[in-house]
Amino acid sequence: MRILLVSSEAVPFAKTGGLADVATGLAKALASDGHEVVLALPCYRRHIPEEGRGEKIGQVEVQMRMKRVRADILETDLPESSLRVWLIDQPNYFDRASLYVEGGFDYADNSERFLFFSRAVLEAAHNLYFLPHIIHANDWQTGVIPAIVREQLRQTVDFNGVGSVFTIHNMAFHGSFPPWDLELTGLPQKLFNWRQMEFYGQLDLLKTGITFADMVTTVSPTYAREICRSEFGCGLDAVLNECGDHLVGILNGVDMDAWNPELDPLIPKTYGADHLQPGKGICKETLQRELELEVNPSAMLFGMVTRLTDQKGLDLIAPNMEALLQGNTQFVFLGTGDPHYEELLRDLEIRYPGRVSATIGFHEKLAHRIEAGADAYLMPSRFEPCGLNQQYSLLYGTVPIVHRTGGLADSVIDATPENLANGTATGFSFTPYTPAAFLESVWSAVGMFQHRQDDWQRLLQIGMTRDWSWNRSAREYMRVYERALERAKSP
Ligand code: ADP
Ligand code: GLC
Repeated sequence: MRILLVSSEAVPFAKTGGLADVATGLAKALASDGHEVVLALPCYRRHIPEEGRGEKIGQVEVQMRMKRVRADILETDLPESSLRVWLIDQPNYFDRASLYVEGGFDYADNSERFLFFSRAVLEAAHNLYFLPHIIHANDWQTGVIPAIVREQLRQTVDFNGVGSVFTIHNMAFHGSFPPWDLELTGLPQKLFNWRQMEFYGQLDLLKTGITFADMVTTVSPTYAREICRSEFGCGLDAVLNECGDHLVGILNGVDMDAWNPELDPLIPKTYGADHLQPGKGICKETLQRELELEVNPSAMLFGMVTRLTDQKGLDLIAPNMEALLQGNTQFVFLGTGDPHYEELLRDLEIRYPGRVSATIGFHEKLAHRIEAGADAYLMPSRFEPCGLNQQYSLLYGTVPIVHRTGGLADSVIDATPENLANGTATGFSFTPYTPAAFLESVWSAVGMFQHRQDDWQRLLQIGMTRDWSWNRSAREYMRVYERALERAKSP
């Protein structure tokens, strides 16, 4: 199958969160299964060094209101993969310090930037004659693509029968813009109505993706069910309910070339399920030393690597820090985002020297070292479409403690006596989302770590030896693509 996968971020080029890992991981898995895959993303010049941009293979021009805007199409590849990567190079839009936000504010022209990107990719597919069977768009940044496919592209000879798939990575981001931005989509005014592109008077790109795609997916089965309810649907639960069985939840996989403790070049010593020590111990000791925590193998070290937003459950952690430090515990935080949470973490580090470390920033290497060096991983997210860090933790023998929601519920099985006995337990999960339930879960973990090391080791082994790779999920995406093709062909 020929697949065009369009994403606003992808590792190793540009990343703010899990979408970047998923875009590349899925694209690589599909390519290695023999499909012809092109992955397209913007050429963020300040994130992608010139030598990593490949070569120019073409140019496109898109009418954006009164002006025609050009972009170069650069093509590069990834080592040891047949995947092709297109970088859409338009410096006015993409030569910026960040991807979406600067100094706490979204770029004012984000709708223009990503509508241009979406349209430029489709134009490039046409000009360069890469005629895909499936165009797979992700999140609001590319939400207009399914609408263009259905309303315009499919009417052309070249793209007749092309199927569209839209994946929701996070319902919290709608891509909501003033109604006059509709003009930037190149689509007719008649589509700006409450059943299609409009939501509370605004142009809504998430809703657009959902309503026009042949198949809609989200990144875990539990989140697929949750978003059909008002608590999680962010206003679009009714729209999602209308999708019926065209909405499918597929748990993200892990790119085992990037996140694998047996091979990871970013950690001080590699290890695996059948040779945990001395590697894991060395990773812990190094982390404690490098972050100026007390070097103490018996202290239980908790890690957390995250975007600092309301989503991630910091409101359960911060007020309970005093209680959490009652035991022989240490905490390592790495994150960036909301200035309020950045401040909060800095403050914890100052108040608890040697016990709490907080690094504000985005550091790939440190993220790997925390996954490897910590004993347990905190992910008490209020909601979590999938979550990758709990899966990385499972693979790295770092026991996750999570709120039982979305993809966390699908990957972390609580260490109840029954689950331990039947060999399914992989971590600790709590519900409801309350400080009491959270603390109880943490104390269960501390109790097991300190007094029942046999159970702890068994828990860790189950997580480390389960298949978290993309193989399984990529096969599920193929089934979705086939269904999208059938729907695209039906009148
Ligand atoms: P989300 O996409 O909601 O942020 P995920 O768990 O799916 O959550 O993915 C987050 C990804 O981003 C992980 O690969 C994680 O390691 C990475 N990440 C988040 N914050 C940072 C940071 N400050 N430094 C390095 N990596 C980070
Ligand atoms: C989003 C979600 C996260 C998910 C990631 C990749 O950022 O918040 O849960 O893992 O997308 O799909």
